Amino acid sequence: MMARTGGSPLLVIEGLSKTFGTLRAVQNLNLSVADGEILGIIGPNGAGKTTTVNLMAGAFKPTSGRVLFDGHDVTGFPPHRLAAQGLVRTFQSTTVYGTQTVRENCRRGAFLHLFPGFFPALVPTARARALRAEVETEIDRLLDWLGLAEFAESEARNLPYGVQKTLGMAIALAARPRLVMLDEPVAGMSAEETDHVRDTIKRIRGAGISAIVIDHNMRFISGLCDRVLVLHHGEELAIGTPGEVMAQPAVIEAYLGKGHAKAGRP
Ligand SMILES: Nc1ncnc2c1ncn2[C@@H]1O[C@H](COP(=O)(O)OP(=O)(O)OP(=O)(O)O)[C@@H](O)[C@H]1O
Ligand SMILES: [Mg+2]
Repeated sequence: MMARTGGSPLLVIEGLSKTFGTLRAVQNLNLSVADGEILGIIGPNGAGKTTTVNLMAGAFKPTSGRVLFDGHDVTGFPPHRLAAQGLVRTFQSTTVYGTQTVRENCRRGAFLHLFPGFFPALVPTARARALRAEVETEIDRLLDWLGLAEFAESEARNLPYGVQKTLGMAIALAARPRLVMLDEPVAGMSAEETDHVRDTIKRIRGAGISAIVIDHNMRFISGLCDRVLVLHHGEELAIGTPGEVMAQPAVIEAYLGKGHAKAGRP
């Protein structure tokens, strides 16, 4: 995939807010993600990380504010329209279809991109057959690339947890995104699996795909992200390189409570 030129941001969030009743889950958030950037989002439980992704991914309509993708206003677009534009997400909990094979799961992602809500198998034209063949070739390439080839015909429910999480990424990538949003991709993983996912996301970026990555694992986020947004009570608490944000007293306080900031503990 070609990198775009001109340096205009790929994703822009303007004044984004979401309230649930009286709870302000996300408050007046502004953000821009550059083409080719890996942006981390961290923050304590309930800080609004998943809600932010839900707003960008079309799962929730914002109470106010806008989401611009590649210069187009995509606020409130449903997930399949966003996927067609190149904006795709994974879920905090694995949402692979357990009784489907790895390949079948990936097909769902691919057809999300090609035919939202429509399966070409129902229309056996030559064009549909050619597209199906193209999709299968692409899925093979993707599974190979992610180290999932040996599991292609296995039912997802029989796979180890780490492999199921990787499959979640494969489903997202099958939609040929320009930006993927990964919600806690290494939650519950071993250090070794975590390093593998970090390397995979770096390779994804190497292929020209930008990423927004939510996680609680600071070592993982620091080793992966160009910049990190820290959310607290639905608001931006800090943004900058991993080193910059982790050095800020407000961030240390949000994580460890009052009193720690002065001591300058990480
Ligand atoms: N659909 C919903 N209806 C009502 N409240 C919600 C809904 N989704 C999230 N919330 C609330 O919004 C706040 C932010 O939740 P969110 O899931 O975005 O947090 P998070 O930063 O992803 O937390 P975690 O680290 O635990 O995943 C929480 O108080 C949560 O209870
Ligand atoms: Mg969350």
